Amino acid sequence: MIDLHIHLLPGIDDGPADAAGTVALARACVADGVQAVAATPHVSENYPTTPGRMRQGVIEARAALEAAGVPLKIYGGAEVAIDQLGRLSDEDLMALTLGPTEGFILLETPYAAWPMDLDNQLGRLAKLGIRGILAHPERSRGVQAPGGIEKLELAASRGLYTQVTAGSLSGRFGGSARAAANAMLQRELVTVISSDSHNVDRRPPRMGEAAAEVGSAELAKWLTTDAPLAIVRGERLPPRPPAPAPARGGLFGRKRRR
Ligand SMILES: [Fe+2]
Repeated sequence: MIDLHIHLLPGIDDGPADAAGTVALARACVADGVQAVAATPHVSENYPTTPGRMRQGVIEARAALEAAGVPLKIYGGAEVAIDQLGRLSDEDLMALTLGPTEGFILLETPYAAWPMDLDNQLGRLAKLGIRGILAHPERSRGVQAPGGIEKLELAASRGLYTQVTAGSLSGRFGGSARAAANAMLQRELVTVISSDSHNVDRRPPRMGEAAAEVGSAELAKWLTTDAPLAIVRGERLPPRPPAPAPARGGLFGRKRRR
């Protein structure tokens, strides 16, 4: 699997505090079945990390994994808060894209409401040849509220990609996030599943657990491997396998995780 959203770099944001924490989290990724990640530190009001500092963090993390013998490939990236886009230069935005192709940027969805300025910002990114990937929209009240999925559908029809967080599918962020994630799956609105992992204790990867919740092994592989691989390679997404039939008990009626 390929994880396009993880806070893995040492001492940069609310991910691991040091290289030992980075190695421990990387080991957990490998044990979970992940071969490659895009390290995506926050770019937010609280963590206004520069692209240069992130590049340094990737170098440090790669060196730590090599020294520890952990076979996890690390691509560069960032999780950019939408309200920070306005202060970032075009050059910064290019430098904050996922992987080597400069074609995709991970955008943090606000938790409280639908991001009002999204269309403008996506337009600016499109002029730079960058496609936005909305991080964990299923955890936003703006998507969970009535009409929220339809807003997402409209944005997706204009080219927006989406990342659902693994723990949302397994119910670790509550019933509303899980219901929204399942509704997105049914409407073919999920581009990738990623971990948004921060550490091995409270926010471990759990990609394998989420893949098992998708309800179709073929679609789970597409969401966790085929689509993220195409994104880091800058390729078109391969054809999407069909969504599984809704679980008995209705669209949101999948059995709860034990
Ligand atoms: Fe994140």
